[in-house]
Amino acid sequence: MAFQLTQVVPWGRTFEEYERMFALSAADVTRSILGCGDGPASFNAEGTQRGLHITSVDPLYAATRAQIAQRIAETTPDIIAQLQENKNAFVWDYFSSVETLVAMRIRAMETFLSDYDAGRAAERYLEAALPTLPFADGAFDLALCSHLLFLYSDHLSSSFHCDAITEMMRVAHEVRVFPLITLAGKPSPHLNTVINTAQRAGWLAQLESVAYEFQRGGDTMLRLTRPANK
Ligand SMILES: C[S@@+](CC[C@H](N)C(=O)[O-])C[C@H]1O[C@@H](n2cnc3c(N)ncnc32)[C@H](O)[C@@H]1O
Repeated sequence: MAFQLTQVVPWGRTFEEYERMFALSAADVTRSILGCGDGPASFNAEGTQRGLHITSVDPLYAATRAQIAQRIAETTPDIIAQLQENKNAFVWDYFSSVETLVAMRIRAMETFLSDYDAGRAAERYLEAALPTLPFADGAFDLALCSHLLFLYSDHLSSSFHCDAITEMMRVAHEVRVFPLITLAGKPSPHLNTVINTAQRAGWLAQLESVAYEFQRGGDTMLRLTRPANK
């Protein structure tokens, strides 16, 4: 059976994975960054340690640290079992084995958890859910969304996707989304609608290959930018 999840699960990636997925340059990471659906990724924690300016939003941040740790513990066994069962759907070079992958993910989530209370106090972790963001127009240079839009195409409608990217473009000058395929590794049925929505708004929508492919065929990022007068 293909990789399947009945709901969006908390499962966190590292700063280096974000750099690769979003082709983040040394200049990009010095910009003010909003991570949408960052969940238990260590992107914010590691970035903050490097002196960067990252705000993360996720409905998960309504929960306490202990509740998030418990939710991760509950969902991890199913994810590991599905990875084992669907090994061929993934590219095993960045991670050499399921065990290496799981060890890195657990380290990333522990880094997130140890930063969570301080990050919430500093308003680096804010409870919010796409398609509504609690920020002023143009509050950020760059908004990122990893492993939520397109990946969960069966759970989130086309109109949700269009509203989400429109909202991210409202609060940020540029938006990057990765991956563009579904949990089952198929092209997202929402991608063309999102691109049409972006183009109708006068934004530039570019598909770019990046130096990260874990789901087989998932090595493309969507970048949305606006011309200077939009
Ligand atoms: C698979 S995790 C990805 C976490 C992180 N972005 C990464 O790549 O490591 C998906 C995250 O999306 C969050 N999420 C679900 N619905 C959301 C929404 N409407 N707006 C923002 N985040 C949402 C979940 O709580 C979860 O933390």
